[in-house]
Amino acid sequence: MFPAYTLVVFIRMAVFPTSPIDAHTELYGIFGNPVRHSLSPLLHNAVFQRLHLNAVYLAFQVEKDFLGLAFEGIRSLGMKGVNVTVPYKEAALNFVDDVPEDLDRGIGALNTVVNQKGRLLGFNTDAPGFLTAVKEELEFNPRGKKALVLGAGGAARGVAFALAYAHADKIWIYNRTPEKAKGLQEYLEGYFPETEIESIETFEALKKEKAHFVVNATSCGMKETDPLPMDLRLLSGEAVVYDLIYSPSQTPFLKLAGELGFKCANGMGMLAAQAALSFGLWTGRKEDVREIMSEVLQKWRG
Ligand SMILES: NC(=O)c1ccc[n+]([C@@H]2O[C@H](COP(=O)([O-])OP(=O)(O)OC[C@H]3O[C@@H](n4cnc5c(N)ncnc54)[C@H](OP(=O)(O)O)[C@@H]3O)[C@@H](O)[C@H]2O)c1
Repeated sequence: MFPAYTLVVFIRMAVFPTSPIDAHTELYGIFGNPVRHSLSPLLHNAVFQRLHLNAVYLAFQVEKDFLGLAFEGIRSLGMKGVNVTVPYKEAALNFVDDVPEDLDRGIGALNTVVNQKGRLLGFNTDAPGFLTAVKEELEFNPRGKKALVLGAGGAARGVAFALAYAHADKIWIYNRTPEKAKGLQEYLEGYFPETEIESIETFEALKKEKAHFVVNATSCGMKETDPLPMDLRLLSGEAVVYDLIYSPSQTPFLKLAGELGFKCANGMGMLAAQAALSFGLWTGRKEDVREIMSEVLQKWRG
């Protein structure tokens, strides 16, 4: 015999193949500005529908002065959880009650908030999402390897932390604004004394010393007019290449990596991996929802 609740769920699934929005619908969302380009609503709503969860996920374009109020809204409206995106990942730390994970506190940027009975808990799923994507798509393990991180913004910070956390031997950081690369180097050194971290202003060092892994964590390549974040021909040998950008799906940087015969991937895998980790934190569910998300992303790409 099925328990009565299971029977109710079956009937509901038969009558409503996707859950209707009703007075029980749970609310999730993303706070950012701009936020209209975000694919997160597409991904999470697809998962909610496929798993017959009575929940919706919306994008909220939040003005800077209202960020605190938006976080209070999570509590006051009983939202179950939110993602936080550019430019609020760092500011989000000021509005949560706790950041349970050491790594997330170290990174100093949150992309996921869980409302645990009125207590707001902050997490960073970008960094583990990045490591998962790199491991699965490129079969790359940073342990004992030398990596070049291009960029020193929020995403580069998470990527550099993730690489050091995964025991990379050496990390070079290159950024258009060198002071920011230097700042990130000094910050990381305090956390990971065993990883050699060097901010660089030119790629000269890379002609002599081999980088095993290069990651574009700049936004260069999102617009057609953007410059290359670096000319990969300056490397002394072959490298594995990851580009965090997923739209367009192939940036000129990634195209060049392919032409040079380097193993490479775009940021789609990271996008799905970080979103799936957020989903798990919010719902406590263990199933891997990345397949659903990948299907959605493939359709979206056309
Ligand atoms: N796949 C994923 O799941 C995922 C997750 C997070 C982020 N991302 C992507 O990662 C990228 C960076 O995001 P973010 O949050 O780190 O942004 P951000 O904090 O605004 O940082 C942007 C970075 O790009 C550099 N940059 C921008 N325009 C440049 C140009 N014309 N020439 C050289 N450098 C330039 C900036 O250098 P300056 O410091 O000199 O300004 C900075 O290092 C975005 O494309 C974002 O979509 C992807």
